Amino acid sequence: MKAAQVTDRVWTALLALRDGAEPLPPRGWSAAEIAAWELYAPLARRTGRPMRVAQIGQSLDGRVATASGDARDVSGPDGLAHLHRIRALVDAVVIGVRTGLHDLPRLTVRLVSGRSPARVIIDPRGRLPNDAPSLRGDGARRVVIQSVDLARPDGVEVLRLPAEDGWIAPGAIARALAEAGFMHLLIEGGGITIAGFLEAQLLDRLHVAVAPLIIGAGPTGLTTTPVARLADALRPETHVYGLGSDILFDCAVTRPAAATAAIPAARRGA
Ligand SMILES: NC(=O)c1ccc[n+]([C@@H]2O[C@H](COP(=O)([O-])OP(=O)(O)OC[C@H]3O[C@@H](n4cnc5c(N)ncnc54)[C@H](OP(=O)(O)O)[C@@H]3O)[C@@H](O)[C@H]2O)c1
Repeated sequence: MKAAQVTDRVWTALLALRDGAEPLPPRGWSAAEIAAWELYAPLARRTGRPMRVAQIGQSLDGRVATASGDARDVSGPDGLAHLHRIRALVDAVVIGVRTGLHDLPRLTVRLVSGRSPARVIIDPRGRLPNDAPSLRGDGARRVVIQSVDLARPDGVEVLRLPAEDGWIAPGAIARALAEAGFMHLLIEGGGITIAGFLEAQLLDRLHVAVAPLIIGAGPTGLTTTPVARLADALRPETHVYGLGSDILFDCAVTRPAAATAAIPAARRGA
């Protein structure tokens, strides 16, 4: 496990990389600063190709919230700063409507310097109320992906995509977002939304930040199509980083998943 330390000079270099500057050779940096660069530079560097990262903040027992829905905050302070850093490095943050309804998230960058990304809510049936915090105007683009004909507030962009059995192909979502100018995406949750992108093999990286608390019950971070034998489990190449309060598993999930499904297991059981 490597300790990652995002000092001011590392963060300044990462924001410049995000804005198209040439990558800086990290001369004279400490090992922990270089580890931080290795962790975040792939998310920041613009290559002209899409980059999609999903992040989950979970407890030692794999929960992302309590059974009664309290999700604030599973991650410790360094895990939360990590989430805000990813937000600052991507073009858009994507959530499913259940997170939009339960957590009322603002999805802005507040714990680090940098600009807030666009906010995208996948809401096929139009369940998110128009006064939800994620739709409030604050200068960031706001996008709803929906299958129904429903008016949204001025300034909110609607991408209307067809659904089959209530499910919109994540590939169609990714294409529509790329056409709207969003190439670098953070899929922030919840588990159903992340599983959809993972099982459609659309993720480059999966970040799982584990915080040292035990919740006992409540939703789990990720539920994918089960495998019968451990030999068939998805075993991504993984780097482990110490983030201070939390431990981060940075998983490369670019290669085809062992098991794929048109509609992920978590959604079928929802
Ligand atoms: N700790 C963390 O990192 C973290 C982060 C985010 C959320 N959470 C927690 O996670 C829980 C919510 O997660 P969740 O997994 O239940 O739900 P979710 O992923 O937030 O939302 C799922 C819903 O979004 C819509 N959706 C997503 N992808 C879709 C697609 N490709 N096609 C059609 N519809 C799609 C569907 O809406 P319909 O239901 O209308 O069909 C689906 O049921 C909450 O408890 C929240 O607090 C934790």
